[in-house]
Amino acid sequence: MGQIKLNQVTKSFGDVEVIPPLDLTIEDGEFAVFVGPSGCGKSTLLRMIAGLEDLTSGSVEIDGTDATTTPPAKRGLAMVFQSYALYPHMSVRKNIAFPMRMAGVDQAEQDRRIKAAAEALNLTDYLDRRPGQLSGGQRQRVAIGRAIVREPSAFLFDEPLSNLDAALRVGMRLEICEMHDRLKTTMIYVTHDQVEAMTMADKIVVLQAGVIEQVGSPLELYHKPRNVFVAGFIGSPKMNLISGAEAEKHGARTIGIRPEHIDVTGDSGLWQGVVGVAEHLGSDTFFHIHNTGLAETITVRAPGEVSFDNGDVIHLSPRLDQLHRFDAQGLRIE
Ligand SMILES: Nc1ncnc2c1ncn2[C@@H]1O[C@H](COP(=O)(O)OP(=O)(O)OP(=O)(O)O)[C@@H](O)[C@H]1O
Ligand SMILES: [Mg+2]
Repeated sequence: MGQIKLNQVTKSFGDVEVIPPLDLTIEDGEFAVFVGPSGCGKSTLLRMIAGLEDLTSGSVEIDGTDATTTPPAKRGLAMVFQSYALYPHMSVRKNIAFPMRMAGVDQAEQDRRIKAAAEALNLTDYLDRRPGQLSGGQRQRVAIGRAIVREPSAFLFDEPLSNLDAALRVGMRLEICEMHDRLKTTMIYVTHDQVEAMTMADKIVVLQAGVIEQVGSPLELYHKPRNVFVAGFIGSPKMNLISGAEAEKHGARTIGIRPEHIDVTGDSGLWQGVVGVAEHLGSDTFFHIHNTGLAETITVRAPGEVSFDNGDVIHLSPRLDQLHRFDAQGLRIE
C-alpha cells in the first residue's frame, strides 16, 4: 500500500511562503512526477512528504493515516537523491545492507533482499566492489538498491539522474520504469526535465511558484494544457505562443501551436517568414523562423530531409485543428 495524500499543506521559510495551500493525492502504485522550473518547490514538497521538512500547516496522510508528525524513518518511505551519498569505505553489499542493519533485520532476510535487489538492478557482479570502483550509473543503482531493500510503501526520487551523462540517463530512466512495472510500488519522482516527466509518469504534477498548475497524464497535458504556462512547459521544442491580431482572429487572447503541427509548404501557406537557425537532428530539423509578424520566433519541426538556408523565405501551414486557444487570464478555451 502506498497512497499519499496532502491536505491543504503549506510551507514558509521565515515569512516567505514557498508553498501556498496545496491538495494532492497520489494513488497506491502510481508513478507520479513533480515537474516545474528551478525553485518552484518540488524538493520542498517531496521533503515534506518524506518528513525531512516540517509542514507550516496542513497534513500528510500515508495510507489513510495521518503522518504529519511521524518521524521520517517511521513513514515507510525511501528517498533517493541526486547525490548518491554512498559510504566509500564499504562494499556495495554493505552499502545496500546498511538500512537493514540499522533496522535490525536478521541476516538471512538481509541476504535474501540484497540478492533480489542486486538481480533487479544488475548489480550481482559488483556486490564486493567499493563505490569508487563503479561508474556513475552503477553507483546510482546502488543508491536505488539501498532504497529497495527497505521494502518501502513508496519511493521518493529527487532528480536522481541529473548527475549522469545523457546516454546513461536514458538507460536509467528505462530501468526505473521497468522497476516500477515489476514492483508496482508508488513512486514520486522530481525533475525539472519535462522529457523525463513525459516518458516516466502515469501522472504529472506541474508546479510553478509552489502552485499546482495542472495534474494529468502526459498525453492529457500535451493535448489539453489547462493554461499558457503548462502549454509552454510541456513539449519539446516548446509550443509557439502567439498573441495580437492573429490570436483575435481565432477568438483568443493567445493561441498556441506546437512545432510539430506546422507544415512547411512549397511556395504558399497561411504564414510566412525567414529562416534563422536550423537545427539538424538527422531524423528531424527544427527551423527557427523570424519576420513572421506573429511572434519573435516561430519554431517548426520538419522532416530531416527538408533543407533551407539561413535567410530563405519559408511558407508555413499551421494545422488549425491542433490550435490551442487561451483567454486573457491565460486559461484554456475549449
Ligand atoms: N531551507 C530553506 N530556507 C529558505 N528558503 C528555502 C529553503 N529551502 C528552499 N527554499 C526556497 O524555497 C523555494 C523552493 O525550493 P525547492 O528546493 O523546493 O525548489 P525546486 O523546485 O526543488 O528547485 P530545483 O529544481 O532548483 O531543485 C526556493 O525559492 C528556495 O529558495
Ligand atoms: Mg530541487
